[in-house]
Amino acid sequence: MSRNVLVKGVILAGGTGSRLDPLTRVTNKHLLPVGGCPMICHPVAKLARAGIRDLLVVTGTDPVGAVARLLGSGRQWGVDVTFRVQDAPAGIADALAMAEGFAGNNPVAVLLGDNIFQADLAPYVARFLDGGSGAHVLLKQVSDAGRFGVATIEGSRIARIDEKPAHPRTDLCVTGIYMYRPDVFQVIRTVRPSTRGELEISDVNNHYAHTRDLSHDVLDGWWIDAGTVPALQEADRLALHMPDNPCSVTHR
Ligand code: G1P
Repeated sequence: MSRNVLVKGVILAGGTGSRLDPLTRVTNKHLLPVGGCPMICHPVAKLARAGIRDLLVVTGTDPVGAVARLLGSGRQWGVDVTFRVQDAPAGIADALAMAEGFAGNNPVAVLLGDNIFQADLAPYVARFLDGGSGAHVLLKQVSDAGRFGVATIEGSRIARIDEKPAHPRTDLCVTGIYMYRPDVFQVIRTVRPSTRGELEISDVNNHYAHTRDLSHDVLDGWWIDAGTVPALQEADRLALHMPDNPCSVTHR
């Protein structure tokens, strides 16, 4: 794939945020403050800064009005935002399936709406496009890998990903930062619901791992899945001091 290809951005902001209860009882997780800025503004700004201008936000039925009111057209970040509603929280891969028409024949850079991180995305997107793999994931070494998808590396490749394993084989978490060729939508159709009744993104990524078509990088800088109270607090603290805080223009 050439670097000149148009990459579209997808932000997955569904789910119930149950691990943040009661903070999420009346407010959606993606609207909670992170560094003086509603959480979902962070992935919008990350994609915008990577030069990805065409964004789809997939969210649940309840928060869609508030999220749309917050982001508007996306003009504040120089992007075009489209919204789609996921009727029920049926998993990350189910939410991603809703991006098929939006993506068309373009590759997609997918961010989970609660993943807050320091690094610039652009070099990783460039490496994905240059490398020509079907999918590209970003890994991070963590101390609590059992909370995440966990990658096992063989040689230079990811051999498998275990979703929230009780006994993680490695400390390499698969972050919620994914890049796919447009055939990902065919792959999602082959995935069956997991024991928790969801279409798991790790099953999609395992398809690429098993066909030796999954590349990866280790993400630089700090990274947080802000889905628990301690993680949300840490993200809030770190993001406040980000030189490229997405709301810095509006809250100074
Ligand atoms: C999801 C994915 C998991 C990934 C994590 C990253 O988990 O299922 O593989 O490591 O995001 O944030 P969730 O936080 O939705 O339970």
